[in-house]
Amino acid sequence: MATRAAYWTAGCDSPRPDERIGEVYIDADTIAKRVVQLGEEITHDYLGQELLLISILRGAVFFMADLARAVHLPLEMDFLAISSYLQEHAETGKKAIRFLKDLDRPVKDKNVLLVEDIIDTGLTLHYILRSLGLRRPRSLEVCTLFDRPHQRLVDMDVRYRGFTVSDDFFVGYGFDYRQLFRNIPHVAYLELERRQPTLF
Ligand code: PRP
Repeated sequence: MATRAAYWTAGCDSPRPDERIGEVYIDADTIAKRVVQLGEEITHDYLGQELLLISILRGAVFFMADLARAVHLPLEMDFLAISSYLQEHAETGKKAIRFLKDLDRPVKDKNVLLVEDIIDTGLTLHYILRSLGLRRPRSLEVCTLFDRPHQRLVDMDVRYRGFTVSDDFFVGYGFDYRQLFRNIPHVAYLELERRQPTLF
């Protein structure tokens, strides 16, 4: 884990691009090492088989891209897009989930691994797992970079988990603040959130 004092990835000479990006939560090197470990585990578990990685846009694409290169199997990728409850039900906080973009190809008889950036309540994945399960994949498992099991509202099996994390608001490595900062190579606290926790 990175030191809380560092504001930017160690060894990165470029300046911090925005004052809203806070201290490092998990540095890029720690993420990369964990992704390689997950890739080795997945490679071992599915040895001799083909695998379909499915990522949910947009946050998980950075993790998906790195994980795919750490898995040494014949592998294909597909993408789902879902509606955000914040966009649709900001006033009530209720979670309404629907597909904005479905998969491009069938999953029937395939080994499917759903790749997520974070699981909180689990409602998003619960909906997606139920929907994909009806399409008769050969197997259906979950790999998430971050997990907050204490926030779970529905039970689910998470086969692969990168890190169990706190309830802080993060940016970087796919995590955004109003669609910004997904491209930061590490995961950082959002400075705005830490100063004004009731902002949202
Ligand atoms: C995040 C994350 C999951 C979901 C998890 O997506 O990528 O899809 O929230 O929350 P849950 O377990 O409580 O359902 P977000 O809406 O932030 O969209 P993004 O991936 O485009 O950033």
